[in-house]
Amino acid sequence: MALVLCVLPASGMAAEGAQLVDRYCSGCHQPQAGEGSWSRISAQRKTPEGWDMTIARMGIMHGVQVPGEDRRELVKYLADSRGLAPQESAPERALIERRLNRVESFDHPTFQQMCARCHTGGRVLLQRRTEEDWAKLVNFHVGQYQTLEFQSNARDRDWLGVALNDIVPWLGDNFSVQTDAWEAWQQATPVDPTGHFQMWGSWPGQGAFVAAVDIEAAEGDDAYRMTVDGHFLDGRDLQGQGMATLFTGYEWRAQLTLDGQSLLQVLDFSQDIPSGRVLDADDEAMGMPVTLLPEAQETAIEAVLPRGLKAGERTTLAVIGTGLDADALEVGEGVEVIEVLKQESGLLLLEVAVDGSATPGWRTLRQGDATLERELAVYDRVDRLEISPDFAVARVGAEQTPAVSGVFRVEGYLEAEGQQPIALGEVPVNWSVSPWDETAEQDGDVTFAGVMDKASGIFSPSGAGPNPERKYDTNNAGNLRVSATARGQSEAVSDDAQLIVTVQRWNNPPLR
Ligand code: HEC
Ligand code: HEC
Repeated sequence: MALVLCVLPASGMAAEGAQLVDRYCSGCHQPQAGEGSWSRISAQRKTPEGWDMTIARMGIMHGVQVPGEDRRELVKYLADSRGLAPQESAPERALIERRLNRVESFDHPTFQQMCARCHTGGRVLLQRRTEEDWAKLVNFHVGQYQTLEFQSNARDRDWLGVALNDIVPWLGDNFSVQTDAWEAWQQATPVDPTGHFQMWGSWPGQGAFVAAVDIEAAEGDDAYRMTVDGHFLDGRDLQGQGMATLFTGYEWRAQLTLDGQSLLQVLDFSQDIPSGRVLDADDEAMGMPVTLLPEAQETAIEAVLPRGLKAGERTTLAVIGTGLDADALEVGEGVEVIEVLKQESGLLLLEVAVDGSATPGWRTLRQGDATLERELAVYDRVDRLEISPDFAVARVGAEQTPAVSGVFRVEGYLEAEGQQPIALGEVPVNWSVSPWDETAEQDGDVTFAGVMDKASGIFSPSGAGPNPERKYDTNNAGNLRVSATARGQSEAVSDDAQLIVTVQRWNNPPLR
């Protein structure tokens, strides 16, 4: 059973949600004392994706069939009544946002080996259960996946004993179903996501953009409609619209069409300035962090794009905030506003020229009492580059399981003796790949594994399946060194990262 993205509006209210649980689940999950309580189901809390995955598993393993519309309503009801408080999901936003290439670490000595080798540990830490229910989960694992105990990191120990005596009490203590955070969140004033926002981000391969976003209520339970109207900094228009559902009072999931592309948007609306990620659900590496700035009461300067202005060059500068006025804005020494391209309360688009002999360093943006410090810098050279991620996994693809790209970004730094490094944001570089080691060289990995786009840092893996042109007809896997070299300066400055190109992942649930 395919997982559905629960982003279409659900129309049911809580009572109807409970009826759906009665209809689809109570045949096996006994209703318990008190209204809206069922065995197992009421012993846990989790994210909307977590609930959707459980329902998918009920389908695969226990034959439970829930049609799409009812399933969305069920997920909505379960995530609203048994979700996570913002503080509880905060440490694992990256997993919820489907950011790949992360390395996890935990403050428990064996949790990594015990519970974070088949799926992420984050998947576990995004759940809250009674200790008894954590124990049931462990028993379910051994019952369902019998080979578990013979695998590496299990056959060298009494896996079930360690899980029940060591892991379960730790989970019960630290990830309990009853918490103050959840109590408080249920009492909190509901978030109203409607209004006018400025959204900005940097789209891999497309560049930085700023857009006005309007969000209004749509028909359905916590359903919203959004329109996006903005620009890339190179002048191209950016238009879009989307539909969203707000789960658990803050978990924003939107299906967004941006610049003609169908994308998924995941935001945390519990923050004063909501932020999250926009991504391609078919190629989760292709995503970008985004921030949504609501209109404020007072004049404020909140962000600037790009963060580095090169001496001697002309650049389009976006200033984001509230009550902005190009005439009253100071951009700092050596930076001259040549033209005001756009002037709105929330956004200024300025054509700026930077003096060739301007002193490198931070510039403070100022309008009256409002300032923005340590966000904009002038540079004459890049002293250091830092690629992220420094270790990435891309995957070859075919129709049914599309390729997962390698998406790299680079940050430039200005480093003067005895001073804190100055972060310049993304600076122009040339990207390339070379063999990581001798084996990769002998096997021709650079030729077979895929293509690195020189300008954008996007690596597109080759097709899946055996390749008769390769040794042993092997597939188009590879072990590559990714390099970024600063453009337009005489002194060579570069950084390296490693890229493993490997085979498809066949099972791609929203929470890995
Ligand atoms: C045909 C019987 C059946 C139906 C119907 C059913 N379940 Fe289950 N469910 C089970 C069984 C058996 C288990 C314990 C084994 C397991 O976890 O798969 C279980 C376990 C669970 C758990 C605990 C899983 C965990 O992670 O430990 C949850 C939560 C759950 N079900 C939710 C639901 C929901 C929600 C529905 C309705 C959409 C539902 N179930 C319908 C049989 C069923
Ligand atoms: C041998 C591999 C393996 C190990 C080790 C493992 N898991 Fe799992 N786990 C799975 C599989 C497979 C699933 C179900 C996959 C799915 O539904 O997508 C799962 C599902 C889960 C879920 C989601 C269940 C739901 O319906 O909400 C949780 C939570 C979880 N595991 C916790 C743990 C914990 C805690 C440990 C350590 C005690 C652990 N896992 C160790 C393979 C493993």
